[in-house]
Parts: sequence; C-alpha cells; structure tokens
Amino acid sequence: MPTITINGTACEFTKGERIIDIANRNGTEIPQYCYHPGLSAPAQCRICLAEIHAPNPRNDGKIEPMMGGKLLPTCVTEATEGMVVFTENPKAMANQKAVMEFLLINHPLDCPVCDQAGECGLQDYSYEYGRGYSRFQEQKVKSPKKNMGPNIYMYSDRCILCTRCVRFTDEVSETKELMIDGRGNKATIDIFPGVPLDNPLASNVVDLCPVGSLLDKDFLFAQRVWFLKKTAGIDPLTSSGDNIWIEHNQGKLHRIKPRDNMEMNTWWMTDEVRYGWKFVHSEGRIKAPARREHGMMVPTSWIGAYKQVLSTLRDAKGAGKKTAISISPMLTMEEAFELCTMIRAIDPDSALFLGPVPISGEDKSYANPNATKPFVIRAEKAPNARGVRIVLEAFGGFKEFGTLIRSAGEYGAVVLTGNYSSDWVTDETAGAFKDTPIVLIDTLSTRLCASAQVVLPSSTFAEKSGSFMNADGVAQHFDQALPTQHSSKNEGQIANDLMQLAAGDELDEPIVAGGIQIVDEQPGQVPAASDAIAMVRGTLFDDGLARERMSEMNAPLREVAQGVRVLEAEAAVESDMPMVTL
Ligand code: SF4
Ligand code: FES
Repeated sequence: MPTITINGTACEFTKGERIIDIANRNGTEIPQYCYHPGLSAPAQCRICLAEIHAPNPRNDGKIEPMMGGKLLPTCVTEATEGMVVFTENPKAMANQKAVMEFLLINHPLDCPVCDQAGECGLQDYSYEYGRGYSRFQEQKVKSPKKNMGPNIYMYSDRCILCTRCVRFTDEVSETKELMIDGRGNKATIDIFPGVPLDNPLASNVVDLCPVGSLLDKDFLFAQRVWFLKKTAGIDPLTSSGDNIWIEHNQGKLHRIKPRDNMEMNTWWMTDEVRYGWKFVHSEGRIKAPARREHGMMVPTSWIGAYKQVLSTLRDAKGAGKKTAISISPMLTMEEAFELCTMIRAIDPDSALFLGPVPISGEDKSYANPNATKPFVIRAEKAPNARGVRIVLEAFGGFKEFGTLIRSAGEYGAVVLTGNYSSDWVTDETAGAFKDTPIVLIDTLSTRLCASAQVVLPSSTFAEKSGSFMNADGVAQHFDQALPTQHSSKNEGQIANDLMQLAAGDELDEPIVAGGIQIVDEQPGQVPAASDAIAMVRGTLFDDGLARERMSEMNAPLREVAQGVRVLEAEAAVESDMPMVTL
C-alpha cells in the first residue's frame, strides 16, 4: 500500500485520499475548522496548512518541498506515494498561531457563559496552537445575537466563518436557508429575510459549528457539557436505525446527538429524533401501578398489580374465553420475546398481535454527496416493527392491530403494550376495548388507563437496553442511559416477574426499604436518587440472556439474535484537569 509520513508517522493510504483524512484516520492531529468529511472542502480557514515535501519526478524522485516550500492545505491536498508532511515545524506552527490570533481578534472570549465551552474548537486550539496572550488593543467588532429558526440561535460574534453551516444547507439538506452576508470584518452568517432555518435536518448545523456560534435553543444554558455522560443509543422513534448519543447527567436526559456510523446515519440525525425524547421526563408518565377496585382505578403495589394481571388472564381462560397480547413496535426484540414467552406460559393458546405501527408520509431521502449512502428520514415512526414481527412469527404467527380492534369483543382478556412517545390511543382503539378487560403496560397516561383492569408503568428507551431492527433489517443493540424513572420497569422485567409468579415462585423483596439508588455521581455533584431499587422483582431481566434464549428457540430467531450488532462500549474519557482530594 502507498505510504506517506505525517509528522514522522508513516501512514498507509488509498489513492485519492486527502492528507487530512489520513491523519484523522491514524490519530495524527492536524488542526481543522472548515473541513468536515461530510461536506465539500473550501480550504478557507487555513489552519490545517502544512509544509509538504514529495518526490520530484523531474529530479530523479528526490524528495523536495512542494510549491517551493509554501504551506499547502491538507484538507484538499491528495496524498501521493512518499510524501512527507510537516504540521509541527516552525513554518506550519507560525501559521497556526497567526490563524488563531486572527480568529480571536473579534471573538468575545465569553467562554464562561458559552454553551460550547468544553467542546469548542476555538478553546481547544487556543490552548494547543494559539498564543498565551492577546496583542489586540483596538475595539472589537460587535455582532448581534440572532433568532435563526425555531430551534437555533446564532451568537454572531463567536462565528469564525468556516461556512460549514452554509455548506450543510446547500449540499445535504439542500434547503439553502443560510448565506454569508457582507464583506471583510462585517461578513456574517445569516438567513434570507423571512426564511427561517427550519428543515427536518436543521439542527445538524449546531453539531457542525466548531465554535459556540450556532446554539440549540433546547439545550441553551441547560448543562455544562463536561458533566454530561454519553450512552450509545439507536433512534428510538423511527425505523431508521440511526446511531445516537444519549447525553445525560444525574438521571436526567439533556440532549441527543448523532453518533457517526458510515453504514447507517453517516454524520447526521433528524430534528424529529433530536427533540423527540421529551416524553421521557414528561409529567404525563404513568408513575406507579394501578388496578381496578370496585370500578375505580386505585394505586397499588407491583405485587398487587401482578396478582390482578394473573387473575384477569386466568379468569378469562376459566370462563372459556380467549386471551391475546399486542406487542408494540416500540419495544425491543428481547422484550417482545419475553412477553410472548410469558403469555404462552400463562395461556398456550393466547393470540399474538403487532401493536399499531405509526406511518407518516413517505420515506424522504437526502443525497448526502460525500457519503456512500443517502441519508433517509423514515416514514415508519416505530424503531422495531420489523424485529417484533420476526419474534411474533417465531411464536407461530400474528395478526395486525386492526384485526384485534375488529375482534376485541371475542377476547376475555387482552394485554396491550404501548411505549409510544405520544398518545397512541385513537377513538377506535378506545371504543374497541370498552367492554374487554385489558392489562395495560404503557409509558404515557392515555384514556385506556381509566378503563383497564390493571395498569403497569413501563420504562422508556432511555431506561433500558436491548436491540432494535431497522427498516433495512439491521439489528443493533443499545445501552441503558438512565435509571428507571418513577416506579416503572422495562417490559422484559415485567414479563419475567409475571412468569415467575405464574409458576408459583416468589419475587425478591426490596433490599433497601424506600431505598436510594445513586446515579451519575461526579465530584462536586449531589447524587440523584431513584426508588427503582426498592421495587420487588423476579430474576433481573438481562437482554443478553434473552438473546441467548432466542437463539435456542428456533433457527430464524437464532439468526436474528446472533446477527445483532452489539455496540462497543464508550471509550472512557480521562479529564485533563487534575483531581483534587477534598
Ligand atoms: S456559524 Fe459556526 S458553522 Fe457557521 S460559519 Fe460560523 S463558525 Fe462556521
Ligand atoms: S481545514 Fe483546511 S483550510 Fe480549513
């Protein structure tokens, strides 16, 4: 393979690769602002400049400085065999210092109140490549804060005019809302009059902005980013399988960001998913189990609720009636498997249904010119309909939710699972189950809560781990980010508990009465508490063990379970701040 040397490190490359890509791939740092692999490269910030030497074919292949020793932008220069690149020699370093000084001339240096502090390209490069002092004595140009659209503010005075944001709206979203207005030190990024930055991918410009200029209104002043922990997740709202970071602190979700995966979402995510997590901390969450007593819904313990579930299902069977379960496409494959196992343990003849699969419009595809695949917004607004279908097939087949609606009266008891991000109960659904005893396992309160025999609060995607299969059949695992909220449990745990009780076994008593579970504790922070530890439960639900059981059940499930892409654990990030023992 051809090789180049970057700052003394030999790096292999493929023909056509740019020097900056080779350096990024090999962990050799070259500073960069305007460059982004998903966009065109205008080579305009000039911080990536390097002195490049290469074999001269007109001088017997002797290695000589290119362009007479002038600095060249590594973000647009293609590597050739035998090149030697210097970004740490005096000439390149003098350029880096000059660029940093130039960029900071009109920068307000307001890091203490800037959301980007802690993940800012200007901060990092000032430290690594800049001067330790300012020589600028004049007045700085003052630029306004602007409302760019429904989700984005612009702090113009922090902008370094890298144009990543403009190129994104030109090349990827193709909505072209952004432009450069003015010239020289009056140049500023702006929208066209009356045309806000508002498209389904708009907030990707916040991620692209290397400084704190474009900011997410939703995250504004919400957290210092160094307190956030990142958990690898999968789009929980649509069938895209897009990879995401769930960023949280002290048991609270604060933002969702795209996680680069060139086979899936490349570098981007939709605003729909970015802002679609609010139901996790919604006041509308079902907070504790409830059961019907003398015609009224009353709060109950988990044990009380479980007993009511079993009596509801057994009463139906005893009366010679059929039972059914509807598995929501919002649940993981492992949960679907456990729920089917549970219902068949209680009633081997129970009918299986797939819960409602929300569809909105049609798939929308973006060209994504710098990637090998387009970026697609899926019309199917459920993360795992395909995975749940496969599980239900493995248990002998299923019918769609519409069939259950039309035949609800035939059943003596129906278990309904929800876990949708908003109210999913239509008039038709509410009407269909008016006279049928239902066991509701759900996350958000809906009108079904008032008509159910028993209501079990379930955990959202952020409070569980498991696997979703996307619309293309790619099954991916995700990790648990938050402790379970309120008194909820994930559907896999609920199924395990019910199976254990149905078999006549006891559940584990709480270890600590009214116990405290410390979450996300960091130095200097007050730990958050969760009462999850105080809840009775059976064998702890483990999605890995569930996949093992799936593998043992039959060939189709084995293929699915073994094909799940399990994500690599996040590499621990070591702070560069010295820890002080108090
Ligand atoms: S707003 Fe941010 S992304 Fe856009 S040009 Fe300025 S610095 Fe670059
Ligand atoms: S990253 Fe190369 S010129 Fe900006």
